[in-house]
Amino acid sequence: MKAGFYQFNPQFGRKKENMDKVISAVQGEDLDLLVLPEFFATGYQFVSKDEVAELSESAPEGETTEMLVELSREKGFFIVAGLPEREGDRFFNSAVFTGPEGFIGLYRKTHLFFEETLYFTPGDTGFKVWETAIGRIGIMICFDWFFPESMRSLALAGAEVVAHPSNLVLPFCPDAMPVRCLENVLYAITTNRTGTEHRKEDQSLTFIGKSEIVSPKGEILVRAGTDEEELMTVDIDPGSAKDKALNPFNDILKDRRPDMYGS
Ligand code: ACM
Repeated sequence: MKAGFYQFNPQFGRKKENMDKVISAVQGEDLDLLVLPEFFATGYQFVSKDEVAELSESAPEGETTEMLVELSREKGFFIVAGLPEREGDRFFNSAVFTGPEGFIGLYRKTHLFFEETLYFTPGDTGFKVWETAIGRIGIMICFDWFFPESMRSLALAGAEVVAHPSNLVLPFCPDAMPVRCLENVLYAITTNRTGTEHRKEDQSLTFIGKSEIVSPKGEILVRAGTDEEELMTVDIDPGSAKDKALNPFNDILKDRRPDMYGS
């Protein structure tokens, strides 16, 4: 199974331009699973709720999800991508999952980061895993990684590959993901963005790049640079994430002792 990410520098508010950039980046690529950044088509640094309302879309009916469905159908690959989602008068930091046969599902970010808390509602979907032709795929979004429960919930639900659309600004995630993958025996594809957004006079956000694909053994299979816009791919074997045995005596999920952990 060929997995990949496209790390790039989305321009705030220029949905069409950002989507066109993704479409041209994948032309000629033969992939099974593509992961795009959090808020890949809109940019990240919202400065008002009106702006969030203007750029958010319902899903699967919105233009961004429709474009992803179309791209999935045309290219024959599965895609996970982040977008601001509107449902009635609530807004979620969401990721949609599409495949060659259309829309598959949606995840709403559980742990909101920084000023996202001003504009978005904490996700209510829980951590979901979809059984597909390319394996069991789960989703978490950016800051969710900071909470070990996110990836553990996905592992307990049977995820073999965790798609992780991100807009990372803190430096910790790329070096932490090998531990998350090792302790849950699964693959993760973290797709970050590059660039800086300075849409508020007193606040500039620089995104750290370093998108990566990590194996169930905690190996970094590919990692992008800090500033480079790049599509990187690697062959992975999701089936190898099924077996959680470390040795004949230890199984990483079965050996858990939830009664000893508190809540
Ligand atoms: C983040 O959750 N965008 C850091």
